[in-house]
Amino acid sequence: MNNQLDRLRIMVKTLKNKAEQRIDGQENNTRVITIASGKGGVGKSNFTINLALALSELGKKVLVLDADLGLANLDLLLGISPSYNLYHVIHQHKEITDIIFEGPRGVKVIPGGSGIHELADLKEWELERFLTKLAVIEQQFDFLLIDTGAGISKNVLNFTLAADDIYVITTPEPTSLADAYGLIKTLNRYRFPGSIKIVINRVYSKKEGEIAASKLKVVANRFLTNCQLDIVGSMPEDRRIGEAVKKQEPFLLAYPNSEVTESIYRIAASLSNQEFKPKNNSLKEYFSKMFQSFRD
Ligand SMILES: Nc1ncnc2c1ncn2[C@@H]1O[C@H](COP(=O)(O)OP(=O)(O)O)[C@@H](O)[C@H]1O
Ligand SMILES: [Mg+2]
Repeated sequence: MNNQLDRLRIMVKTLKNKAEQRIDGQENNTRVITIASGKGGVGKSNFTINLALALSELGKKVLVLDADLGLANLDLLLGISPSYNLYHVIHQHKEITDIIFEGPRGVKVIPGGSGIHELADLKEWELERFLTKLAVIEQQFDFLLIDTGAGISKNVLNFTLAADDIYVITTPEPTSLADAYGLIKTLNRYRFPGSIKIVINRVYSKKEGEIAASKLKVVANRFLTNCQLDIVGSMPEDRRIGEAVKKQEPFLLAYPNSEVTESIYRIAASLSNQEFKPKNNSLKEYFSKMFQSFRD
């Protein structure tokens, strides 16, 4: 283990203690969920923001990080155009609280923007400053949902490996399933210890979703060791999702009675009922793990 990582770990521990003192013995239970996919355009961002809204309606405090390195998607889906993002926090032009914007139902969103790239190059003292700022907001949320870009680039992998749960979104198309399997294989190779949840999006029938999910399971069981896939369910093909995107309104609000909205509520309800023992003790630990893998 190199010295730099040792120092980082000590620093994170210190910061964590500081935060705990500040919040007087209150435990941190923020559950970190990364939403990922092998192939692009399979519905990750729509899934993320609508799940956030559903969780929020169920009384949970939800923070969403838009960590798609390529496109700033979530602000577009919400019809909000933030002027600042993590880049401005890292360069000290803004505080984190200045860049967080509020979406519908009180869901808070951190636009990552080009700041996501910068995280890899922070010097130790810059990282400490950034982590200290994060410490201030971390304990306020029950869930942190992280929307990533497609594929298994190093950046996506970093976000993904540090999470408590990973939701892998795929469609039933063979190309999408093959790419989802590629992602699962990589997570398995890096020994992701959490739970890999599978959501099959854009299905024409429940049966189609079940068949696609079982294909993934069969291949994973056959070729991967210790790879437990948890099939969460499917979401139907619904052209109104495209309509909602055009209106820049989350489909859960635009089409509250649709089947796809119902499927999101079902997932949110099951998540919010689950007892949760955090693997990551704090958001800072989450981020510091992420930084560590950037530096490895
Ligand atoms: N269940 C669905 N039914 C119909 N169209 C969908 C569905 N899910 C996603 N889409 C379409 O796919 C597009 C891409 O979705 P998005 O959430 O941006 O994917 P990603 O974040 O994975 O790139 C959306 O704009 C929408 O038109
Ligand atoms: Mg997206």
